[in-house]
Amino acid sequence: MSLFRTKTVEDSIRDTEAEAPEHRLRRELSALDLVVFGVGVIIGTGIFVLTGQVAKDKAGPAVAISFILAAVVCGLAALCYAEFSSTVPVAGSAYTFSYATLGELPAWIIGWDLILEFALAAAVVSVGWSGYAASLLDTLGLTLPAAIVSPPGEEGGVVNVPAILLVLAVTAVLVLGVKISSRVNAVVVAIKVSVVLLVIIAGLFFVKRDNYTPFIPPSEPTGAVEGAKAPLMQVLFGIEPVSFGWLGIFAAIAIVFFAYIGFDIVATAAEEARRPQRDMPIGLLGSLAITAVLYAAVSTVVVGMQNYTQLSEEAPLADAFKSVGKPVFATIISFGAVAGLTTVVLILLLGQSRVFFSMSRDGLLPAWLSAVHPRFGTPYRSTVLMGVIAAVLAGFIPLSALAELVNIGTLFAFLVVSIAVLILRRTRPDLPRAFRVPLVPLVPVLSVLGCLFVMLNLPLDTWLRFLAWMAIGIVVYFAYGRRHSRLRPDVRHKAG
Ligand code: ALA
Repeated sequence: MSLFRTKTVEDSIRDTEAEAPEHRLRRELSALDLVVFGVGVIIGTGIFVLTGQVAKDKAGPAVAISFILAAVVCGLAALCYAEFSSTVPVAGSAYTFSYATLGELPAWIIGWDLILEFALAAAVVSVGWSGYAASLLDTLGLTLPAAIVSPPGEEGGVVNVPAILLVLAVTAVLVLGVKISSRVNAVVVAIKVSVVLLVIIAGLFFVKRDNYTPFIPPSEPTGAVEGAKAPLMQVLFGIEPVSFGWLGIFAAIAIVFFAYIGFDIVATAAEEARRPQRDMPIGLLGSLAITAVLYAAVSTVVVGMQNYTQLSEEAPLADAFKSVGKPVFATIISFGAVAGLTTVVLILLLGQSRVFFSMSRDGLLPAWLSAVHPRFGTPYRSTVLMGVIAAVLAGFIPLSALAELVNIGTLFAFLVVSIAVLILRRTRPDLPRAFRVPLVPLVPVLSVLGCLFVMLNLPLDTWLRFLAWMAIGIVVYFAYGRRHSRLRPDVRHKAG
């Protein structure tokens, strides 16, 4: 069954060591670099934009509970990612892990899924960035015409120029090399974290106790949603969506989940980590823990500053300060958001180029894509290719609903990695595992159930788009990847 041929863990590791220098990624990231990477990509549109919308529509002042529950779902998956990336420290994250356990076709599906997730997420975040950048320029007295800050079909837009420029600039930085990227990233992450801390500390002075009552507003039925917008839970089980109450808090997880996307990208940098066995778990769990604490604190402060019914949906953190008469803070926060969202796009595109790199090294995508630049040491071709695609998506497509597509893709990858941990424990109990998931099989099983639960809350049209992308992927696999895979005996022979 060649569809399920696996690439052994040893082969994966050997591949990285035996590569000619121009195909090799440099091992130069420390544990701290990895945590900074993680925080850099995690804190973004989720906390800066979605907090307001979710508190207003679904969770009320208890939105922090949704953030914490989403962190629990991610934390279970992160434990599985940590075991895998410390055992198989090879670029490609969930893709590589699946190749080692489930086989080539499932690995392809995951790789294809990750490409969707990262490209789309980079595009979504660039559009968010563009909104903040436009509003910042506006405060400085430079108002950009609507036609060049929105995609067609939205508020008189034609093309989102700032979003395109951001993606292209970030792509250029990535081509110049990972070390430059992580330095640029470290500075921006510092700014972003300072802004988040500013919101928490300065905001505390404006918190009104009244805004916390009721902490969990009584649940209200939102009524059955018609057609493709209905959550899968309603389609399958007839459970109608509600706002507020505990069910509202649970439903909100499917949205705030977006705020944690990115910690899994730390795993794509495994091949560039100096001591992956020790550093990958620190990078993954560390960045997740830091952001979970910050999110819970920020969201609690913001709903205390402004009644949840009044929160803004575009810039809730900044607008909460405007609402208490502190516009200067609002400007600083907008600046932080602009800086912060930049690193998110940067790392999303970096993660994506690494998945691409691994897939083409295995022959599943054309080999010329994986060549590393002789001077910069980066897989520049795949970086440029995907950067251009993300730029086009960012410029022309209204992306609000597509954020949900990012969530479903990510949840699917989490689910597969959790299952893969169980499989690898059985098939390769002998492998040295620097980090082991505790309480196996309980933790991976809970992780699978958690992901499934969140996925059920996503709308039917998101599921359909996701399945369509997967179907295209399967066609590409049979048309190209399957025939060019380096695991084919004849191809391997030729390559050797
Ligand atoms: N977690 C990232 C964000 O919130 C993708 O923007």
